[in-house]
Amino acid sequence: MTKAPDKLTKAEAKAELARLAAEIAGHDRRYHGEDAPTISDAAYDALKRRNDAIETRFPDLIRPDSPSHRVGAKPSEKFAKVVHARPMLSLDNAFSDEDIEDFVARVRRFLGSKEDDEIVFTAEPKIDGLSASLRYENGVFVQGATRGDGQEGEDITANLRTIKDVPLRLHGEVPKVFEVRGEVYMTHRDFFALNKRQEKDGKPLFVNPRNTAAGAVRQLDPAMTAARPLHFFSYTWGETSAMPAKTQWDMLQAFKDWGLKVSPLIRRCKTTAEILKFYDDIQSKRADLGYDIDGVVYKVDRLDLQDRLGFISRSPRWAIAHKFPAEQAQTVLLDIDIQVGRTGKLAPVAKLRPVTVGGVVVQNATLHNEDEIARKDVRIGDTVVVQRAGDVIPQIVRVIEEKRPKGAKPYQFPHNCPVCHSHAVREVDEKTGKEDVDRRCTGGLICAAQAVERLRHFVSRDAFDIDGFGGVYIETLHDKGLLKEPADIFRLAKKPEALDRALAERRAELSAERRAREGKEDVAKKSKKDDDSKLVENLIAAIDARRRIGMDRFINALGIRHVGETNARLIARNYPDIDAFVAAMEGETAVAELSEIGGIGEVVAQAVKDFFDEKHNRKLVDHLLKEVDVVPLAAPKIAGSPVAGKTVVFTGTLEKMTRQEAKARAESLGAKVSGSVSKKTDLVVAGPGAGSKLAEAAKHGVEVIDEDSWLKMIGG
Ligand code: IVH
Repeated sequence: MTKAPDKLTKAEAKAELARLAAEIAGHDRRYHGEDAPTISDAAYDALKRRNDAIETRFPDLIRPDSPSHRVGAKPSEKFAKVVHARPMLSLDNAFSDEDIEDFVARVRRFLGSKEDDEIVFTAEPKIDGLSASLRYENGVFVQGATRGDGQEGEDITANLRTIKDVPLRLHGEVPKVFEVRGEVYMTHRDFFALNKRQEKDGKPLFVNPRNTAAGAVRQLDPAMTAARPLHFFSYTWGETSAMPAKTQWDMLQAFKDWGLKVSPLIRRCKTTAEILKFYDDIQSKRADLGYDIDGVVYKVDRLDLQDRLGFISRSPRWAIAHKFPAEQAQTVLLDIDIQVGRTGKLAPVAKLRPVTVGGVVVQNATLHNEDEIARKDVRIGDTVVVQRAGDVIPQIVRVIEEKRPKGAKPYQFPHNCPVCHSHAVREVDEKTGKEDVDRRCTGGLICAAQAVERLRHFVSRDAFDIDGFGGVYIETLHDKGLLKEPADIFRLAKKPEALDRALAERRAELSAERRAREGKEDVAKKSKKDDDSKLVENLIAAIDARRRIGMDRFINALGIRHVGETNARLIARNYPDIDAFVAAMEGETAVAELSEIGGIGEVVAQAVKDFFDEKHNRKLVDHLLKEVDVVPLAAPKIAGSPVAGKTVVFTGTLEKMTRQEAKARAESLGAKVSGSVSKKTDLVVAGPGAGSKLAEAAKHGVEVIDEDSWLKMIGG
């Protein structure tokens, strides 16, 4: 149980603030940096509120990296950085009528207004998208940026140019420099159409319009942005060389005159009552707007008053966001389904007794991951609160414990893949020692949920590089049960009739589908049959051409987690041939041995070992080795190196360099560095304190030299 903020001792508060800073920073990174949040907005808000509450009680414990100082995540590395001439700030949130009354009272108090002084506010819908800044110079759009952390964003000019609501040129009298700020968003209609296409193409569905829009503007290829229709509403500004108006309202009128899109729902309100009425009106229109809004924003209309009010840390004193409560309902959790993604990730999905939430029937909800289920203690049979907060995939907010059926047991997250029954593991980050939030199936190729993706990788350019075999063949042959494991590719090459038949069947299916769709007769061309045999012939030739394969490509093709082209090459170089490698992976010391290879860390080593520990992976490798010849990688030939191709073991303390450096030097000279002495060892370099390895060396008659002799040997 987490303690309430007012019950914490100072020491506990300190630890809790540290924990919250780390946890919130992680969520920020996933949300802003990777567009892939792992918790609901409500849960995130709760973490922030807890942080704020503890900081309010213990202001001297506020950390330099406190989440309350931060607006969002640091920009990611792939785009050029843009330092905002004026920071892009955030808004304070209000959740109740009282919060709004307090806000208005605060503004009046700050300005010292008399009772009958009128203060006008603009009221605007709060668009649920992502904010962007558009810089116009002499009326021409010259640069567009994301908010990033508020100080520094990403240059997404090319992507913003693809948005119709972003004029490339403003008309009328526009100041020399003018930065327009507003929200990029996607309409419901476009979002659903996009997801329909994704579904048809067998691709993963997008979670909600906001994340989709965020992902779209951060595509490196602007054509990808253009393929996802986006919109833009302007509502504020950054750097300006002159001001066209004196109120927020008139500024927005100027925006419209220049050709920018401004929300048609914006109103001016003179009293709190008018403000709250606006809130209710917008809330009742919310479902029919055709895009997501998550609240309403009120701003003091007069800009001179805004200037006087100024900012408190990260948000203006003159504005507030009045958030809508998320739409919620109660229902029963019937079951938890574990879905396996293409990368092996086990995703828990709540199966619910159907219930209407905000006008939509909900029967599935995401449970995010194992820790979330444990944190909320969600049990099958529980009555749960379900929420849709703009998200298409609803979330489980909490359990109503009083309604828990007797005997309901805590949910046990499976440790095996429900599809292929392989172990499902949570990896541990080498640096932080932290467990990954997701559990992943280690089945790889034998897991039907992952097979097609893995097989695609197997034939891809850096792996087996089988010309023309990717894409549709793999899927077709896998669906027909002809292609279950990589060895099947080579077995199929010996059966042209089977290939022929499968492809002909596939074509018949496709044209039947097309006929059904278009209601037309499909005129099959006679020449197709001949095309097919030619195709099959070419395919077989391409497969046969790869029956001899480099060891690095072979290892890469296995699709071992963390082992791509580079690591595969490092590993391949370290073993004389594939049999030696496979045999070594059976040994107790496999992880230690792999970790000795320069450039291979513990996580990679463990992943390789885990792969070979799965019986079915061993089988798959054995089957494959029956079909192909694996050519060992020659050790790099280093001209004149006296140790090229030699196996060297370092032992004891080295005094002139670290073990790591010695190893790297040796490897760069073409030597193989091993952790243990065997009859294959050529040389042992021993420093003070060397132990059992010396005895081993003597036993195998291996030459032993000291560090200085070694240095002399390799030339200093
Ligand atoms: S004004 C200094 N107006 O909400 C104030 N923001 O939580 C700048 N947003 O970062 C923001 N609709 O992404 C403003 N009509 C609106 C808005 C709006 C949506 C977003 C914006 C901002 C966030 C603050």
